[in-house]
Amino acid sequence: MDRNWRSSVAPGFVVCALILFASRASAQNQRDAIAQTPPMGWNSWNKFGCNVSEDLIKSVADAIATNGMKEAGYQYVVIDDCWQVSRDENEFIVADQQRFPSGIKALADYVHSEGLKLGLYSDAGTKTCDDRPGSQGHEYQDALQYARWGVDYLKYDWCNTGTRNAEEAYTTMSDALLVTGRPIVFSMCEWGTAKPWQWAKGIGNLWRTTGDIGDKWEGVFKSPEGNCCLNGMVDILDLQAGLDAFAGPGHWNDPDMLEVGNGGMTIPEYRAHFSFWALLAAPLIAGNDVRSMTPEIKEILTNVEVIAVNQDELGREGRRIRKDGDLEVWARPLSDGSRAVILFNRGKSEQEVTARWEEIAYPNHLAARVRDLWAHKDVGSFTGEYSAKVAPHSVAMVKITP
Ligand code: GLA
Repeated sequence: MDRNWRSSVAPGFVVCALILFASRASAQNQRDAIAQTPPMGWNSWNKFGCNVSEDLIKSVADAIATNGMKEAGYQYVVIDDCWQVSRDENEFIVADQQRFPSGIKALADYVHSEGLKLGLYSDAGTKTCDDRPGSQGHEYQDALQYARWGVDYLKYDWCNTGTRNAEEAYTTMSDALLVTGRPIVFSMCEWGTAKPWQWAKGIGNLWRTTGDIGDKWEGVFKSPEGNCCLNGMVDILDLQAGLDAFAGPGHWNDPDMLEVGNGGMTIPEYRAHFSFWALLAAPLIAGNDVRSMTPEIKEILTNVEVIAVNQDELGREGRRIRKDGDLEVWARPLSDGSRAVILFNRGKSEQEVTARWEEIAYPNHLAARVRDLWAHKDVGSFTGEYSAKVAPHSVAMVKITP
């Protein structure tokens, strides 16, 4: 009897397990296909906080479409927290009608007409971080509404989630987005609390690895509104070391959005910030007022040679290969066999920094061309190592090609 039971039921289990495994694998392929290189775009939060509106989003989309950012690869225009106010009698999410009088569908149409894509924000808890309605218990209905509106990207936050399990909560929304049939990039904003890099591949396209970034070089500090805590750029950078193996085409570590151009760092510091985010294969989501940038800031955000490193199809995240006090070397292998290398000086005086071939997996005798990606100049041919003088709080970023 026992044997009969086993012989008839066991094959059923195996078939079910195989079907489940195959459908998870195909969901993962579908999810990964949407973001084969790190997403590029703009998000309202870092500069505008809750002060979002239809006029703001349209004027930002106009700027991106005409100021060289679209050509450089920026695509997603993302409205962060505070666009939503309530739910209607059928529990569908409702946008703030004062600030978005034409509605989200019309806004998506507008953004699409510029050749760009629209992103929205929600939260896995009962309320968002700014106390707007969250998606807990409404995941499928919200995903359906986003798809009907023509939304292309969802940033999904982690406030007011109580005892929810992060993997379960993010899987629910990921599945809900997939069944809409609309390709929607899924940006998981869980702040790295439950180490999402260990489980989020196939669930999200990008996952935050830390708390929020602030517009400062270093330190942990309060926001202008007095909220604790924002993290300086190098504090966030330090927390990325060791996470590189978890990223790849379709699924990326997210060290948070860019602060380039928001005024709290110097131009060399912003260049360092942008260089690192490119090397780390991080999503490049601008967070400044792109409608009124100085030429230096625009030059940073649209540096095509640095962006090419970020968007390299091999999709290998860079990593720190040496730290000698204030001096560091970071490197990333690229699809053409070359290496992108950052020589970093976090100290207060100019220093020489050296990248040695053996550290970037090249033989010592190899002669390789070095190109400076900020000066846009070939520096020469070098054998065994390359050194550059690096100003304080600055980087040199080069491409080394055998
Ligand atoms: C959290 C997120 C931020 C931003 C705000 C919005 O702090 O980490 O990126 O979305 O919420 O309230």
